[in-house]
Amino acid sequence: AVEETLVLIKPDGVARSLTGEILRRIEAKGYSLVDIRLVQADRDLLAAHYAEHEGKPFYEPLVEFMMSGPVVAIRVAGDRVIEGFRSLAGATDPTSAAPGTVRGDLGRDWGLAVQQNLVHGSDSPESAARELALWFG
Ligand code: CMP
Repeated sequence: AVEETLVLIKPDGVARSLTGEILRRIEAKGYSLVDIRLVQADRDLLAAHYAEHEGKPFYEPLVEFMMSGPVVAIRVAGDRVIEGFRSLAGATDPTSAAPGTVRGDLGRDWGLAVQQNLVHGSDSPESAARELALWFG
């Protein structure tokens, strides 16, 4: 079935001028860009987005990192796009993410408290609906 997912290009991806490369990979896979915006996220938005991680050791560094610069938020559509984009993104840890994925090809560890891993993708239909409402209203 056609689904929609929320993709975020995190501040590291924007700062490294990888927006075009990441959009290219999404389009080359055959998914559709439905909506896109450049967002300077505030703490309230990120607290809602990352509610499930509150209290974890990396939570505060994660929120600070996500506020450190603009984020590109994209509404992406396609059959099984939620699973498909997570496959394109690769594993959370960019050091061990498989080559061929966004994180595996373009990311690495920078010795920081938070894993700067270039992109976010919703992990389920429920998360996608919740996150799309947060970032696109
Ligand atoms: P994402 O899966 O989009 O959402 C949670 C983010 O927290 C994750 O990407 C990483 O950026 C970060 N993260 C997850 N696990 C860790 C960890 N163990 N240490 C540091 N950062 C993490």
